[in-house]
Amino acid sequence: MLKGVIFDLDGVITDTAGYHFQAWAALAKELGIEIDEEFNEKLKGVSRMESLEAILKHGNRENDFTKEEKEALATKKNDHYKELIKNITKKDILPGIEKLLQELKENNIKIALGSASKNAPVILKQLEIEEYFDYVVDANQIKNSKPAPDIFIDGLKGLELKPEEAVGVEDAEAGIEAIHGAGMIAIGVGVKGDVNVSSTEELTYDVILRASQAC
Ligand code: G6P
Ligand code: MG
Repeated sequence: MLKGVIFDLDGVITDTAGYHFQAWAALAKELGIEIDEEFNEKLKGVSRMESLEAILKHGNRENDFTKEEKEALATKKNDHYKELIKNITKKDILPGIEKLLQELKENNIKIALGSASKNAPVILKQLEIEEYFDYVVDANQIKNSKPAPDIFIDGLKGLELKPEEAVGVEDAEAGIEAIHGAGMIAIGVGVKGDVNVSSTEELTYDVILRASQAC
């Protein structure tokens, strides 16, 4: 029986995926590395430092920087990203999402956020939807990032639910793998899950309920 939903943030609740790409592409360019949208798919759901490592590897520069220099590069990307998301407001919630959050609440379904982003709490606040969330996974406390299941396991723990009582919603391949690793049913938004929707508009309470029953 469905008792909870764990949502990814970037690309599911709001379209910050484009801002992450913009900030990474700018940093990569400074390092003489070019990344395109196709490469960016591999970065979705992946932690800040692991994303940087992937970009450096892509440009054959993985051995060119010390740990401290890498920390500084990751901070630089994050400062740029924070600048880009500064003006995000309620109007940046993806279509259908707030209605869905309301419906889940009305039906006593618990809601958690399972994002790898350390900026997630600030973004939820800017979107004015923090009150819907019973639990927000703290990415600072998670050892292994997606595709490891840790974030979703922590989300289940925070909601006090078993894997079969909750579904996960993701827009990234790494995220779908993480949901499956936690033993949950995965709904893919524009990516292949157990149940698929092409956009958040299609992500209704009915779809989630049917997904939880069908699998
Ligand atoms: C999400 C995004 C990734 C991002 C990661 C870390 O998973 O999909 O693109 O790298 O969060 O975000 P942060 O805000 O902590 O750098
Ligand atoms: Mg995402």
